Amino acid sequence: MKKLAILISGRGSNMSAILKAVEDGALTAEIAGVISDRVDAAGLEIAERHGAPCYVVDAHRYPTQQTFETALLEVLKSRVDAEVVALAGFMRIVGAEIIARYAGRILNIHPSLLPAYKGLNTHQRVLDNRQSEHGCSVHFVNRELDAGAVVMQARVAVRENDTAATLAERVLHYEHLIYPQCLALLCAGRLCLQNERCLLDGRPLLKPLQPYAERTASA
Ligand code: GRF
Repeated sequence: MKKLAILISGRGSNMSAILKAVEDGALTAEIAGVISDRVDAAGLEIAERHGAPCYVVDAHRYPTQQTFETALLEVLKSRVDAEVVALAGFMRIVGAEIIARYAGRILNIHPSLLPAYKGLNTHQRVLDNRQSEHGCSVHFVNRELDAGAVVMQARVAVRENDTAATLAERVLHYEHLIYPQCLALLCAGRLCLQNERCLLDGRPLLKPLQPYAERTASA
C-alpha cells in the first residue's frame, strides 16, 4: 500500500475527502502524514481526529523559501517516508527539489478547468468574464504553476445569479469527488506520468478523465 502525504494550509476540506475515501475503502493508501505550512491550519485538528500523523513545517519560521523547502522535504522523506504527495489547498509553490524527488507522484487540485484560470481567485475571474462553464482539475505538479498534465476534470455550469461563493461551493463538491478518484488511480499504479503526459493503464490520456459516477446512498 502506498504511503500518502497530504499537504495543507487551511481548512483542509479536500484532505477530509481524501481521509474519508481511505476510511471508506474507495482509496487504497496509507495516510503517512498530513503536513501543514501553518500552525493554525484548521485542517490539522480534523486530521488528528481521523488519527492521521500530523506535522507542521511553519513557513514563518524559515528565513527563505529555500530553507523552508529543505525542511519540508526532510519531513516528507525522513518522518513521513512519503511515496505519493497530494497538495490539498496548499497555498505555496512547491520547489524544484521536491518536484524532482516526487516527479510523477505529486498531484494538485485546482479550482478551474485548466489550462484556463491558473492562479488565485478563479471563481471571481470566471464570473467577471461571464463564462458559462467552470470546474476543477486534478493535475500532476511540475515546475510551472498549475501547468502539469491534467488527469481529471469536472465541469460545473455557471448560473445567472452565482456569486464567487456559490460557485466555489458547487466546484468544491466536485473537487471532493475527483481528487480521491485520481489518487486511487495513482496509488494503484494505474496512472502515471511519461514525458509530461498522463498514461492510464499504459495508454496515453488524450483528454482529461471525467469523474466516475458519484455513489448514491442506496448504492
Ligand atoms: C480549494 O478550492 C482548492 O482547490 C484550492 O484551495 C481551496 C481550499 O481547499 N487550491 P481546502 O478546503 O483547504 O481543501
